[in-house]
Amino acid sequence: MESIIVKGGNELGGKIRVHGSKNSCLPILAAVILTDDVCVIHNCPDLTDVSAAVKILEFLGCGVERDADVITVDSRTLDRCDIPEGLMREMRSSIVFLGSVLSRLGKAELYTPGGCEIGLRPIDLHISALKALGADIDESHGKLSCKRNAAFSGTNINLSFPSVGATENIILACAVSKGVTNIYNAAREPEIAVLVDFLNKCGAKIKLKADGTISICGVEKLHGCEFRVIPDRITAATYMAAVASAGGDVLIEDIAPIHLKSVISVFEQAGCSIDVGKSSLRIKSPEILKPVRNVRTMPYPGFPTDAQAPVMATATKADGTSVIVENIFESRYKHVPQLIRLGAKIRVEDRVAVIDGVKKLYGARVEATDLRGGGALIVAALRAEGQSEITNIHHIDRGYEKIETALGSIGADIKRG
Ligand code: EPZ
Repeated sequence: MESIIVKGGNELGGKIRVHGSKNSCLPILAAVILTDDVCVIHNCPDLTDVSAAVKILEFLGCGVERDADVITVDSRTLDRCDIPEGLMREMRSSIVFLGSVLSRLGKAELYTPGGCEIGLRPIDLHISALKALGADIDESHGKLSCKRNAAFSGTNINLSFPSVGATENIILACAVSKGVTNIYNAAREPEIAVLVDFLNKCGAKIKLKADGTISICGVEKLHGCEFRVIPDRITAATYMAAVASAGGDVLIEDIAPIHLKSVISVFEQAGCSIDVGKSSLRIKSPEILKPVRNVRTMPYPGFPTDAQAPVMATATKADGTSVIVENIFESRYKHVPQLIRLGAKIRVEDRVAVIDGVKKLYGARVEATDLRGGGALIVAALRAEGQSEITNIHHIDRGYEKIETALGSIGADIKRG
């Protein structure tokens, strides 16, 4: 099994580009089937989750061509409405194919999704919203059999939690339909706004209102378009954590700084100096990292749960005690025992993690437990004395494009072994 080997101690310098956003690319790849046309999507990251989405599109009968970061999808040949369990289990985002397949074909047969084991990750909000729109959904033994009934039309949906995936599924289910749907308490993550931009470019009529409500006026048909995926804000946050942890002065390019406001303020709290440009930022680490107090993960624009693990890794070496509260997922501290193996001092009580900074971390053999936890282990290993080996790196390859090449390009001693 492949692993990533890191020799800690190198300071980082130079510049690094951030790849396209996994969590923006995936719902757009589900949305393309609504167009019954050809769509060309640029800046798609080279990730196993994106490959999984391509496999689903091909299974459904779409023609898919991939040339570097450009994915061209011809969904005129789509000819089936079922997705096998194996493909569904490869990632969490497969669940948003429910909304788009149901909309395009009037029925959908799929399974509950896979993805990072960071909590139960139910899909009750997805199901109840689609039922409210007029879908008949039978769930048994993990299988979802869905049919759009005659009454399927716009309605008002109040989400009890601003779920990203449920918001995406509702948008995909009713962009091409009759009537108007208003989603109250919708997710406000940037990836939602970008999905709406994509669909509106294809002819949809979707409005993001100032109060966060999303109003979708169903249309009869969409056409294809050419579109560019936004930069990955979580990879940008992870690279920032790497510089803060290893020490150095790096220009991080091809980012959307506006999406990183809550992350930037945490690294400034840690003592980093950050100069923000139009589509880049320069981060310089301090001699001694300060602790980060009261980092609470929240729905956007709050501090992103996906950056929690990388920031925790940085905090392990701070001069003092940091406190992190994980409010989004109930089991997102699986990386803690692995960080402790590297010499970190961390206590977890339910949702609260208390990190007592230590003078040194020591290289060890650790295993990635999920995507962002794996990123955190690399961040910590960059600063550990000696060599670390990170196993189960398939988790990492789901969301970080060639991370060893990227970090190696700014001076890290890191290789895939
Ligand atoms: C998306 O997951 C992201 N994944 C996650 O990123 C991210 O952590 C999460 O949003 C929150 O920002 C993709 O976009 C592919 P949610 P999603 O629905 O849609 C509960 C990464 O590392 N919930 O907003 O699954 C749920 O259990 C991944 O890139 C329900 O209870 O997140 C969780 O506690 C990890 N019922 C909370 O809501 C539902 O029906 C947030 O989940 C749906 C969700």
